[in-house]
Amino acid sequence: MSDIGNRKEDHINICISERISPDYCYWDDIMLVHEAVPEINMDEIDTSTRVLGRKLEFPFIVTAITGGFPGAVKINGNIAEACSRLGVGMGVGSQRASLEGGERESFEVVKDHGVPLVIANVGAPQLIEQAGKVAFDDSMIGDAMDMIGADALAIHLNFLQEVVQPEGDTHSKGCLDRIRDVCRNHKVLAKETGAGISRQTAERLKGAGVAAIYVAGMGGTSFSAVELHRARSTGDRARESIGSSFFDWGIPSPVSVLEADVGLPIVASGGIRNGLHVAKAISLGACCAGAANLVLKEAMQSADAVEDRLLDIISEFKAAMMLTGSANVEQISSRRKIITGKCREWL
Ligand SMILES: Cc1cc2nc3c(=O)[nH]c(=O)nc-3n(C[C@H](O)[C@H](O)[C@H](O)COP(=O)(O)O)c2cc1C
Repeated sequence: MSDIGNRKEDHINICISERISPDYCYWDDIMLVHEAVPEINMDEIDTSTRVLGRKLEFPFIVTAITGGFPGAVKINGNIAEACSRLGVGMGVGSQRASLEGGERESFEVVKDHGVPLVIANVGAPQLIEQAGKVAFDDSMIGDAMDMIGADALAIHLNFLQEVVQPEGDTHSKGCLDRIRDVCRNHKVLAKETGAGISRQTAERLKGAGVAAIYVAGMGGTSFSAVELHRARSTGDRARESIGSSFFDWGIPSPVSVLEADVGLPIVASGGIRNGLHVAKAISLGACCAGAANLVLKEAMQSADAVEDRLLDIISEFKAAMMLTGSANVEQISSRRKIITGKCREWL
């Protein structure tokens, strides 16, 4: 297996078995105001919405997790089947290993299912030259899209992880121009991976032509935590120290949803753990929510397990809609909310 394939497998194992998120839940800082007379029938609530031109039955994306090693065929196959059954979106993990000649089946398996919104994934650091490594060109980006029959491309912004991991790509000069190039031919989501996106950065990304902002803020999976555990297992004391110092680095997810509102669709992610969190994200202005860790264990088991987990999230979301008097997704986005705790301090 390639080094990247090994690393992707390490990430999964660490996320399943170690503490990789801050203890504080930033989504709990957002409170929706209860409606005692909702005047809505639960079975008539419409949870459908449109995201990037595609209809979803529920405003949710199982966000980029994995691919590029044989064990990921089952994981991505299970996610794709469940997402197809429920009509929600799906992103794959970084396709770098496959684009550099590695395993492809774990990505191609997504095409066997009718997922309504499929999102390809490459890293911003790979769009420019790094020490001894060639930048991805347009044909490689096209290959990433075709490999999974993608509707859109997530360009992930993971410099927190790159600075913490030993084999990190730490050049970033020229990334924005390359993002601008890619936007000429593809529908691009600028995607953080756990540290959030500020207003100023969102403006620059909008100027580069991205179609949507995918915030993935702090409060969910922390890649400095993941790399801390990898460093510990190899006795790399210096990297362990950086991972620990930057464990909770970033802009909290709900704050980032508000910050990154520059008139583009926003996908809220980072610490989404239940359907109420999805409702809170939409109330702050996101077009949908995304989560990875939420379904990771289930994705390793079966499509039924992923589907059951997502059905719980959908039921909780519907309950939040009922209790805020929201008959459809648009209505919940205009419901009153109170912002408390650390998010309030941030704002
Ligand atoms: C095991 C794992 C692997 C991930 N790999 C990728 C990746 O390859 N590319 C990417 O853009 N995001 C990746 N992510 C980040 C997620 O897509 C998401 O943005 C982030 O984990 C926050 O969501 P969460 O708190 O629900 O996990 C990964 C997350 C996990 C848990």
